Parts: sequence; C-alpha cells; structure tokens
Amino acid sequence: MRRLLPEPAADVDPYEAYGDVPGLRLGMVMSADGSVTDAEGWTDGLGGAADFRVFRTLRALADGILVGAATARTGRLGPARLRADLRERRGGPPAPIVIVSRTLDLDWNLPLFTEAETPTVVVTPRPATGVPGGVPGGVRVVPAPDLGTAVRRLRDDLGLRHLLCEGGPGLATSLLREGLADELCLNLAPTLLGGAHHTRLLGELPAPLDVGLTALYEDEGVLFLRYSLK
Ligand SMILES: NC(=O)c1ccc[n+]([C@@H]2O[C@H](COP(=O)([O-])OP(=O)(O)OC[C@H]3O[C@@H](n4cnc5c(N)ncnc54)[C@H](OP(=O)(O)O)[C@@H]3O)[C@@H](O)[C@H]2O)c1
Repeated sequence: MRRLLPEPAADVDPYEAYGDVPGLRLGMVMSADGSVTDAEGWTDGLGGAADFRVFRTLRALADGILVGAATARTGRLGPARLRADLRERRGGPPAPIVIVSRTLDLDWNLPLFTEAETPTVVVTPRPATGVPGGVPGGVRVVPAPDLGTAVRRLRDDLGLRHLLCEGGPGLATSLLREGLADELCLNLAPTLLGGAHHTRLLGELPAPLDVGLTALYEDEGVLFLRYSLK
C-alpha cells in the first residue's frame, strides 16, 4: 500500500496507517460508481484482496465491530475471526461483533451467534425476553433505548472503547444522524457496477455534512480515503 496524502510514501503498513483509532470509526467499501453491494447483494465482489487487507486491519484495531441487523440477516456475516499475524499484533482474541437491532428479528442459529470465539453482542431497545426460545448462551444483550446510550454502554460497561461500524448503510446513517461517528474510512473499489445492483452508501441526512480528507492510500487500484467527521 502506498500513501498519496498527506505526503507520499511507499510500502505503508496498514496496521500503522490506521493505528490512530478514534472512538467510533465507520469503515465501508464502495464501487467507483457508488454502490456498497455487489451483484449478489453482498460486498465480496467489490474491493478484492487489497480491500480485505484493510478490512481485516480495521477489525484487528477495534475493540468492538458494530453491524446493522439487516446485514446480519443476509446470513453471510460470520463470527469474529482473526488471522495469526493480526492476532499477534493485537495481542489477543478478535473483537466481538456487535449487532444493532430494534426488532431482535434475527436468526439465532447462525454461526455468528453460536460459534463465535469472542461471543457476539447484541444492542437493542427491546427486551431480550421477547425472543422465542431465548438468545443462545454466551450472546450478551445490551439494552439501550437509543444509539448514543448503546455506544456509551459498550464503552463503559463492556470496555469497548474503540468501535468500528462496518455498516450497512442504515446503521451508518443512523450513527451519522446522531453525530456519533468520528471518522469515515471509505475504500473505493475500481469497479463500475451499473444501476441494477446499486445500494447507496448512506440514506437520508438532515443536512449535508462536511468531511475533511485526512489521508489517502492506494493498493491494487483501490483508493483508501480517510475522512474526519468531527
Ligand atoms: N459495502 C459495505 O461496506 C457494506 C457493509 C455492510 C453491509 N453492506 C450491505 O448493506 C446491506 C444492508 O444494509 P442496510 O442499510 O439494509 O441495513 P443495515 O444497516 O445492515 O441494518 C439496518 C438495521 O439496523 C438496525 N438499526 C439501524 N439503526 C438503528 C437504530 N438507530 N437503533 C437500533 N437499531 C438500528 C435496524 O435493525 P432491525 O431491523 O432489527 O430493527 C435496521 O433495520 C447488505 O446488502 C450488505 O451486504 C455493505
């Protein structure tokens, strides 16, 4: 990976490049024509190996990985994993995946809930007692009436100080609307998908939000943009 901004540098280590981890970082990948889903409604077809390297790095640097319930409902979100090299650098097991849901309408039999090395967390305003059959053992449910409270409880009660939100657009938009995100790490993939499979990065915001470009990297044609939101 090479750095183009602020000043050019070759052979940049992503773990160091993204090492200044803020309280809440949004990390997402988008095609060059602005879609966050590929033809299968997932993300694997977007950024390739270079994107995955940064994706894994952002996970390894985080204390908790926020994901919207609709992304979990695709059934393609696995439990938190960590490769040996990143595990060594992180100095411990993977960060928990934290599913954010109002409805708790989730498939609790997914490996995400039953096979996670670091148990998956669910934050929700709904009482978990309403889940038929109950939530699987190990899954921690954090009650929170709103996202601000959720972020505070994750930080104060579970010690998850540095959160990464991987999307999808619904959750990312909610966090932006609430002013809870500090940074957007946007990976721009060298792919044009066309209209048929388009899903936009964000939903509606109350007003345009100015962002500041703090760094720009490139690897295998993928552009890695870091925007400050504060
Ligand atoms: N390109 C990328 O980087 C990327 C990353 C992730 C996902 N994706 C794609 O994005 C798509 C899904 O995105 P999406 O926008 O439909 O859904 P999403 O953001 O994954 O999930 C939306 C859900 O999150 C919960 N949620 C959102 N705001 C909330 C709030 N304020 N309080 C409590 N819960 C809240 C709600 O869950 P309930 O419905 O349970 O109430 C809501 O329906 C998938 O196709 C996935 O492949 C792309």
